[in-house]
Amino acid sequence: MTKLIYVLNGPNLNLLGRREPEIYGHETLADVEADCRATAGECGLSLRFFQSNREYELIDWIHEARADAEGIVINPAAFTHTSVAILDALKTFSGPIFEVHISNVHQREAFRHHSYVSLAATGVIAGFGVAGYAFAIRRLGQLLAVTKPPA
Ligand code: DQA
Repeated sequence: MTKLIYVLNGPNLNLLGRREPEIYGHETLADVEADCRATAGECGLSLRFFQSNREYELIDWIHEARADAEGIVINPAAFTHTSVAILDALKTFSGPIFEVHISNVHQREAFRHHSYVSLAATGVIAGFGVAGYAFAIRRLGQLLAVTKPPA
């Protein structure tokens, strides 16, 4: 049976391709979703892909993932730098979590240098453009392929 992962996207990422393309590039969120689906397929994973501008919706999907999914890739966008609530939700998830940022947040304004989400993340990818999503999915594929010994 294929293992299910969630790919979650935070506020303003629905405007990808049109929003500050000099920072975030020209690919749209639909392009990112197609890339993610192709990569997940190569890794033998199935995927649910979501975007919301609302913090509570991201939290609800993280709760849903607790029951349904084995790994999470999340670009929390601006909530990265503000949301203790998303951090707390991620801390309830027992599988690997990869935090992805399209831009190199460490090269940008000081307020983008701190991430609440990183406290719960297995790994962080920043500054690889939208390719970061595929890198995170491939790593999830590796981690989830390792069979757990019986308890
Ligand atoms: C972002 C970086 C955040 O600082 C910003 O608020 C975003 C996108 C990125 O993917 O580079 O919306 O998460």
